[in-house]
Parts: sequence; C-alpha cells; structure tokens
Amino acid sequence: MAAAARRTVTLIPGDGIGREISGAVQKIFSAANAPVEWDVQDVTPVQLPDGRTAIPQSVVDSVNKNRIGLKGPLMTPIGKGFVSLNLTLRRTFDLYANVRPCRSLEGYKTPFDNVNLVTIRENTEGEYSGIEHEVTKGVFQSVKLITKKASMRVAEFAFDYARSNGRRGVTAVHKSTIMRRSDGLFLQCCREVAERPENSGIDYREMNIDTTCLRMIMEPKEFDVMVMPNLYGDILSDLCAGLVGGLGLTPSGNIGANGVAVFEAVHGTAPDIAGKDLANPTALLLSGVMMLKHMEMVDVAQKIESAVYEVIRDGQHLTRDLGGQARCSDYTAAVCERLR
Ligand code: IPM
Ligand code: MN
Repeated sequence: MAAAARRTVTLIPGDGIGREISGAVQKIFSAANAPVEWDVQDVTPVQLPDGRTAIPQSVVDSVNKNRIGLKGPLMTPIGKGFVSLNLTLRRTFDLYANVRPCRSLEGYKTPFDNVNLVTIRENTEGEYSGIEHEVTKGVFQSVKLITKKASMRVAEFAFDYARSNGRRGVTAVHKSTIMRRSDGLFLQCCREVAERPENSGIDYREMNIDTTCLRMIMEPKEFDVMVMPNLYGDILSDLCAGLVGGLGLTPSGNIGANGVAVFEAVHGTAPDIAGKDLANPTALLLSGVMMLKHMEMVDVAQKIESAVYEVIRDGQHLTRDLGGQARCSDYTAAVCERLR
C-alpha cells in the first residue's frame, strides 16, 4: 500500500500541563511514524472592542488552512469578561458534533467492565447559546435554543457514525416530557433520521435524561451510540468518563462540516502539577488517535492505540492519577518502546 500522504495539523498545546502532554503526543506520533506535521499555535485570547472573546487570527487561519486540529487544555482568564475559549473554538469553526467514546480499559479496573459507548453531543446551541438576560431585579433568564437545522445535522451525524463504525444502536437522550417543544423538536429530528432506509439496521430508541443516568450507573453495557442536546451531553459524557476511569483517559472530537475537526483533551490544565513531569497524556493521545482515524490513517492510529492499551494493561508505567509512580516521560517512553 502506498504510504499515506503527510498532513499538517494545527497543534494547540494549551496551558498548564498542556505543553508536557502535547510533547508526549508528538514523541509518540514520531515513534509510530505517523505522517503528520505539526503547526504549533498558541492561543492567548483577544478581547474584541464589543467585549466578545476571540482567538488570535493566526490560529483561525491555521485551522482554516489545515482543517484539522489537536488541542490541549486551555485556561480561560476568570472574571475578565472572557467567554470560554473552548466554546469560542467550537463556535468559530462551527464544530457541531462532539464525539466522546468511552471504553473500559483492560488493566485499569473500575467498578464497571465492558463499557463501550459513544456520546454524541450537539455542540453549538441548546443551553450553551449564551443568551441570558436580567428580566427584572432578582430574575434572570437563560435561553435554551434548539433549532431544526442543528438538531438534524447532529442526528444525521450520529447515525452516520453508528453505521460507519459498525455500531448497533442509537439512543436519543432528552427531557421532552418537560421541554415539550425544544426537546420535542430534537427528538422529532432524531426520529426522522432513524426512519430513513439507510438506518433500518440501527436499533433506535429514546430515553429521558434522568432515566439514562439511572440506567447508565446500573447497566452501562446497555448503551451504544447516544445523541443529545448540548448540556445533557456535557453532563452525561463526564458521567460516562467516570465509569471507565475519568477525564484523564477519555478522548474527545469536535466535528464540523467539510472535514474540519478539532480533537481535544477535556480535562483541565492541572496547574498544581504543571511542569513537574507528572501529567497523564492518555486523553490527549487517544484524542490524537481519533484524529488519525478521522484523517483515514487507520493503521497508524490502531498501532498507537494498541501500544497505549498495552502499557496500561501492563501496569508498570502508570502515572500517579492511575495509582502508579511513573512520570509523564516514563509513560511516554514505554509507549514509544512498543512502537519500535
Ligand atoms: C467540555 C467542557 C467544556 C464544556 C467547558 C470547558 C466549557 O466541560 O468540553 O465538556 O462545558 O463544554
Ligand atoms: Mn464538560
């Protein structure tokens, strides 16, 4: 087979532990001969004259040019009127679907085995619309915006994802018993997509968000692909990450139209351990693996993924968050060792 064409991707190392874990990913990718060039970009936020937050133009240009990005954790300055940079990135590139696979890792024991599910979250509107008002003194209103356009495209994305990843089922998660019109519209869109002939092989069901949480913590094996509005997805994806070992282990991808996508670690910047070579790069690394699969570099993606799983299973080079003693650099070297 011909060697895959090299691709340049934007790398946003991020703040705090971001540099160390990005460095680990770069080392591991080169040990695996991943055909990727890094266009490294810093994201220090800029504030527009009208008070809105923007990311520097150089980063926007880089992602627009490369179409693919990988980002570490970003710190949003608190109390200075900045909107979360993570949200700004999603909005700037209209990354409408957030994909978070959660799989039990052999060798890292949690109370649950055989978790293998994917949350797909609407990523642009819902409770994250940012529309809030003070109606009158002591009364605030926050607008949850649900549109047919955004609901259809995320529903279509979820079914396409299920089909192309050999998944059996899609569950639409909602609270349409209470938010009859907004969640009602979301469900209607999911149903419409479920009924298309190409989706006849996918087992579709609907579940209230509260019931989903209950079932999830009792029988996570019942779940496969799940699709839901923004805030439910935010909360449920953390819950799911918790089932398999936490945000240090789980990857995330923000997917937009025409192949644009930004993959990211969802954990924070961990300033307490920054610069001490103690951070666990797994979440960013597995996000990088998702990125490679998205670019159809499946072989090298699987090679890296297996090396990561082996190192975790082997248990000799686990970082402190996983109960081990290894440094970030030890873990990185152990993964690289398996790739040579
Ligand atoms: C996530 C995070 C973000 C979100 C924050 C950092 C804005 O929690 O990616 O899940 O709420 O979407
Ligand atoms: Mn979250």
